[in-house]
Amino acid sequence: MEKRVAIVGAGTSGLIACKYILEKGFDPIVFEAEDTIGGVWARTLDSTRLQHPQQVYQFSDFPWPSNVKETYPSHSQVMDYIQSYARHFGISSYIKFNSKVLSIDYVGEAHEEIESWHLWCGTGKPFGSKGNWHITVQDVKSSTIEVYKAEFVILCIGQFNGVPNMPSWPPNQGPQVFSGKVMHIMDYTAMNSSSAEELVRNKRVTVIGSGKSAMDLAAQCANINGTRYPCTMIRRTAPWVCPYNDSICEIGLGLLFLNRISELLNHKPGETFLLGVLATLLSPLRWGIYKIIEFYLRWKLPLKKHGMIPKYSFHQSVLSCQIAVTPENFFDRLEEGSIVIKDSQSFGFCREGLVLDEETMPLETDIVIFATGYKAELNFRNIFASPVFQQCIKGSPSALALYRRMIHPRIPRLAVIGYGGTLSHMATCEIRCQWVTKLLEESMELPCVEEMEKDVKLWEDYFKNYAIDKYSDRSCMVMVQLWYNDQLCRDMECEPRRKKGIIAELFEPYLAKDYAGLTAKQS
Ligand SMILES: Cc1cc2nc3c(=O)[nH]c(=O)nc-3n(C[C@H](O)[C@H](O)[C@H](O)COP(=O)(O)OP(=O)(O)OC[C@H]3O[C@@H](n4cnc5c(N)ncnc54)[C@H](O)[C@@H]3O)c2cc1C
Ligand SMILES: NC(=O)c1ccc[n+]([C@@H]2O[C@H](COP(=O)([O-])OP(=O)(O)OC[C@H]3O[C@@H](n4cnc5c(N)ncnc54)[C@H](OP(=O)(O)O)[C@@H]3O)[C@@H](O)[C@H]2O)c1
Repeated sequence: MEKRVAIVGAGTSGLIACKYILEKGFDPIVFEAEDTIGGVWARTLDSTRLQHPQQVYQFSDFPWPSNVKETYPSHSQVMDYIQSYARHFGISSYIKFNSKVLSIDYVGEAHEEIESWHLWCGTGKPFGSKGNWHITVQDVKSSTIEVYKAEFVILCIGQFNGVPNMPSWPPNQGPQVFSGKVMHIMDYTAMNSSSAEELVRNKRVTVIGSGKSAMDLAAQCANINGTRYPCTMIRRTAPWVCPYNDSICEIGLGLLFLNRISELLNHKPGETFLLGVLATLLSPLRWGIYKIIEFYLRWKLPLKKHGMIPKYSFHQSVLSCQIAVTPENFFDRLEEGSIVIKDSQSFGFCREGLVLDEETMPLETDIVIFATGYKAELNFRNIFASPVFQQCIKGSPSALALYRRMIHPRIPRLAVIGYGGTLSHMATCEIRCQWVTKLLEESMELPCVEEMEKDVKLWEDYFKNYAIDKYSDRSCMVMVQLWYNDQLCRDMECEPRRKKGIIAELFEPYLAKDYAGLTAKQS
């Protein structure tokens, strides 16, 4: 009998997972809470574009259509591309839309037995345990609830949706005392574009945060309202920013993060003694390269003038996934005063607006929009019906203690795709989905639970050692992406070195297309 694999989420991760599962003859069912595929790309600001050149955000076996000439396609072009991928591979008919998974419950062995297993699922095989998953799904239109069963679950629920990250305030300093409107950007982007535009038109908008979403939103409000109603950004930490559509940054991206020569410059989790010594010996070179980048950015962009020089180095920021590409015209808007940045480590509400650190007068405002990110780990944890599995997630320092960032050693018959900060989401996702299908085919061995937990700890220590403290739970893999991809290739018994010739191997960036057909070649 075909094994039923339930995939939760139909963003790019869920679609890619479904494609590979189908190819291998499993019976997939994809639950998607929204009425469309695409995940983050289906509900975002009008101005959102790809942050990376299109070839970095490309499915391994489905290139961008030739009529998309833009280096950084718009979100609607990304959506069209994702939709044609789903059509091309016949994925759409496996998706149940408007179907929100409320919980997943493993019905099988008792927790005490699972806890005693030496091997994942008792045998090291994905279908080795006796149980299956009961998936409680709510039809969001009719509110009816149905329970589905599946032999395996792949969670592709994304890091940037679900539970918004909202600060808390002492009594009488929260949004309840404010006479204006307060919302999270998640609710703003869920509105249709004309209502969203109307909401901010001729209003004093304050955006909380200084990440990519905050900058995009501030630029969008400034484009609508100009200098008459400037948009204020409340910044806690200044991130390093790169200019939009800058060829030097594009070349740097490939040369500094996605190729083998750059990998040598950095320490890696579980590296050999020799590689560790080499990375240490090369650290002055690495320091020099990153200083040149900082000089370039300070020369290219008026960072000093607008108080935008970060307190962290560019290198630390990359290790923490804290780099953002500014939206088009961001600095023009700052220059003309339609965007104003104010620094404040904390703030409270009052009737007229916000009370900022070291400011005696309140910042008067009509709307406050939080672009403060999401609590991804909470979203993930809450989907488990079992408090024991919830605790497995809660117990780990980096929130998601996943072997190869996909498998929890103590949660059977389940894989996760889409967690951990990477520069090339598509490449990582393609290789991960192939790894999971290889596992499902039972043509790949996993180490024992204890070994997997040791490996998880090794990676957690890496994130803790190298990322800026407060961002270490982002599990940022930008500097070790190839190192990680190589591990997955070796697990699958595929050749990790995939370029033609030594020069290409050392200098060419590794992209999703380099990992096309990994499992096909082996079968
Ligand atoms: C605004 C924005 C722009 C971005 N731009 C870039 C970029 O330029 N380059 C880049 O590499 N990355 C970018 N990212 C990162 C982006 O998250 C990934 O590139 C990728 O799109 C994530 O895909 P995903 O499928 O893992 O998650 P998502 O796209 O978040 O999809 C998850 C899906 O799961 C569904 N879901 C969640 N919970 C449930 C549930 N309980 N039941 C049923 N369905 C559920 C959601 O509705 C959603 O459709 C961006 C992120 C954001 C927020
Ligand atoms: N392609 C695109 O155009 C695009 C657009 C949007 C987003 N993205 C991607 O989506 C991901 C999420 O980006 P994001 O900007 O939504 O989230 P984010 O990177 O998590 O940024 C959150 C921001 O909110 C601030 N913040 C959090 N809690 C706060 C608090 N209590 N008080 C004040 N400020 C607070 C953070 O400051 P601290 O740094 O001090 O914590 C940070 O500036 C990123 O990977 C980004 O690259 C891409």
